[in-house]
Amino acid sequence: MSSRGLEGVVVAETELSKIYGEEGRLVYRGYEIEDLAEHATFEEVCHLLWYGELPTREQLAALNERLVADRDVNSEVIDILRRLPPSTHPMAALRTGASALASFDPEAEDMSPEANQRKAIRLTAKMPTLTAAIDRLRNGKEPIAPSKDLGLAANFLYMLSGSEPDELNARIMDVAFTLHAEHGMNASTFAARVTVATLSDMHSGVVSAIGTLKGPLHGGANERVMEMLKAIGEPENAEPWVRAALERKERIMGFGHRVYKALDPRAPILKKLAEELAAKGGNTKWLEISERIQAVMREEMGKRGKPIYPNVDFFSASVYYTLGIPSDLFTNIFACARTAGWTAHIMEQLKDNRLIRPKAEYVGPLGKKVQPIERRG
Ligand code: CMC
Repeated sequence: MSSRGLEGVVVAETELSKIYGEEGRLVYRGYEIEDLAEHATFEEVCHLLWYGELPTREQLAALNERLVADRDVNSEVIDILRRLPPSTHPMAALRTGASALASFDPEAEDMSPEANQRKAIRLTAKMPTLTAAIDRLRNGKEPIAPSKDLGLAANFLYMLSGSEPDELNARIMDVAFTLHAEHGMNASTFAARVTVATLSDMHSGVVSAIGTLKGPLHGGANERVMEMLKAIGEPENAEPWVRAALERKERIMGFGHRVYKALDPRAPILKKLAEELAAKGGNTKWLEISERIQAVMREEMGKRGKPIYPNVDFFSASVYYTLGIPSDLFTNIFACARTAGWTAHIMEQLKDNRLIRPKAEYVGPLGKKVQPIERRG
């Protein structure tokens, strides 16, 4: 018997994160996600994931220096992005950009642990630069060079618009990066591990992961959530809209999860950030629509005996949109943050590697004989 979608199958041991699906808890290397979101920056979380522990001041300064120095993307890669049709989806452009980075990385084919640690930093540092450049180029604008004075997440916002984010926006983006940095054996992480388990290179692993994250059942859901909020338009439309969609047996984006059978712990953290943003800007519409959707889903799915809760993508959509980010860029943000987790998993995989090669159960016909072509059909 095959396990559809590999549900419940344990494919690796990991020290990176643990998901308590029944309780709705998420732990990165022993630290609860709420604790990290409140008390650590994304850069500190990167250190935790890559080196096993939160950094001391000196360790953080050293990592920051590298992450800042590695933010620049060479002009050849920017030129490749420049040639893409503006209609290219930003995740497709990121996949191309990340792949092109390998051609200009002198250590691309060096799979030593030391080279891989350096590439993990380089890739994580460059993804926001690629994403911001993709958005500006498709809008006919020149990319903005990264700032050396801002944190990774704040610098991303700066490179998008050209103005430095205020403290609240910078903190919100940083927390969003922390929440998206790592999440067990999700589909894109699995894709990355499968790729490098063949002893292919780190860039290939990350490119596989980007392509996998792009799908609407995984990272692509945050973009679809915003499309849904816009289609609903006003809070009073939410209830009939959701009921009609469920009636048509459609999935409500931003709800449900393979592992969580309770509220995804990242969702309430993002909801709180959405509330802070709404309070600052006075625009509570997206939050109100989201809350109404949540209420209808609670009632409807409860009635059907299969409660389904909001996941990380549900409230991240209104957070990003209120920060002024276009909705088709949302999944790229997820990719920028998750590069920390992908690269950590790639290094973990290679520490004790074995080719990942499951089996498929053949259910097709047997015993057929090849007929000459004129006798077929
Ligand atoms: N809306 C309505 N019904 C749903 C939803 C949803 N969002 N999610 C699951 N269901 C129903 C589904 O129709 C099925 O019902 P039935 O048993 O009657 O056929 C039941 O719940 C189980 O669904 P499943 O597809 O077997 O569950 P899965 O573990 O394969 O799917 C999922 C997990 C995340 C793909 C799914 O919940 C989904 O499609 N959600 C919407 C997309 C989404 O928000 N994805 C982001 C996931 S979290 C972040 C990330 O990993 O990127």
